[in-house]
Amino acid sequence: MTDHSLQTRLLHNDQKFDPQTGAVSVPIQQASTFHQQDFDNPGVYDYSRSGNPTRHALEETIAGLESGTHGFAFASGMAAISTAFMLLSKGDHVVITQDVYGGTFRMIHDVLYKFGIDHTFVDMTDLHEVATAIQPNTKLLYIETPSNPTLEITDIRAVSKLAKANDCWTFVDNTFMTPALQRPLELGADLVLHSATKFIAGHSDVVAGLAVTHRKDLAEQLSFLQNSFGSILGAHDCWLVLRGLKTLHCRITQSSASAVQIAEELNKHPLIEQVYYPGFRCHPGNSTHSYQADGDGAVLSFRLKNEDAVRQFTNAVELPVYAVSLGAVESILSYPARMSHASMPKAEREKRGITDGLLRLSVGLEKPEDLIKDFYQALAQINDYTCLKTGG
Ligand SMILES: Cc1ncc(COP(=O)(O)O)c(C=O)c1O
Repeated sequence: MTDHSLQTRLLHNDQKFDPQTGAVSVPIQQASTFHQQDFDNPGVYDYSRSGNPTRHALEETIAGLESGTHGFAFASGMAAISTAFMLLSKGDHVVITQDVYGGTFRMIHDVLYKFGIDHTFVDMTDLHEVATAIQPNTKLLYIETPSNPTLEITDIRAVSKLAKANDCWTFVDNTFMTPALQRPLELGADLVLHSATKFIAGHSDVVAGLAVTHRKDLAEQLSFLQNSFGSILGAHDCWLVLRGLKTLHCRITQSSASAVQIAEELNKHPLIEQVYYPGFRCHPGNSTHSYQADGDGAVLSFRLKNEDAVRQFTNAVELPVYAVSLGAVESILSYPARMSHASMPKAEREKRGITDGLLRLSVGLEKPEDLIKDFYQALAQINDYTCLKTGG
């Protein structure tokens, strides 16, 4: 099956039908424990924290799609990320992208230090800055590309090369792209992480996390940690993620095409100070992104003048849901300063360009013209003349 394109492999893989019944849907094995035939042969599964057939199906599927050998499903993206960080030991140091997802920032900043794991936040788009931050005890370079919410692009291949030269691992949070658009393991990364809550599941109905590696040593340790910490994904949620995966390619392709159209229209509006979208030719990471990804993605951010303008806009906009999250069939408008990055101190946020005027849009499957019309009517409700662009 591996000869086929990813689009086809989403449907035609080892989980295509249940070998026992022929059912064209993975059975939901809602069991916590498994009868053991005899004392010496406990069987493949003994207890669902350690392994479950439905979870196994999802883990195999995501491993194949990410060009890895071992997949792991967790109760949330943060469960996957925090378990992956447990691969580190006391005294280790991490170099991490400065505009990392707020929850990852909180975990690194407020939790890991208690276990003696140190970190340095860097501008990952600047290879020199990354190289300079590496210390003798650095064990991990941690990437998010495109980053959340300012859509900055990190060169995965170059950072992975730097990591290898310094005997470090590279982990990539691939939530925004999914394997449909970007496969970091093929570019030299050691581990890929996902909030499968987003595009992979795609329907705002499940919270889930995934990790994939092609390294046996990391897989063994991660499997041990997954069982030790126990933050596994339940069987029913695994099935929801598997179902979401079947339509991933068509959802993300359609939403990305709409995102291009919307980003271009928003960019023309005088009340919008900046639109952040890696698909723009003028985006500083555009060429790196086109080299390492098969599409520009369905997330963009845009900056209004201030919080007041954001309030007026979000009160007036009708189609997108105004919510935490992204990557769903419905468009989702988020306010990072109060949502995904609320756990980041204001000064830290602003240093990263996450100002009080910044909004993030995850484009869904609505007709893009309807969304554009809605955004323009909402922008027309911003009545404060001080919001007008100054200086051209
Ligand atoms: C890029 C990224 N990584 C990780 C997470 C955390 O995932 P979860 O909410 O599934 O724990 C998020 C959540 O928004 C995210 O956007």
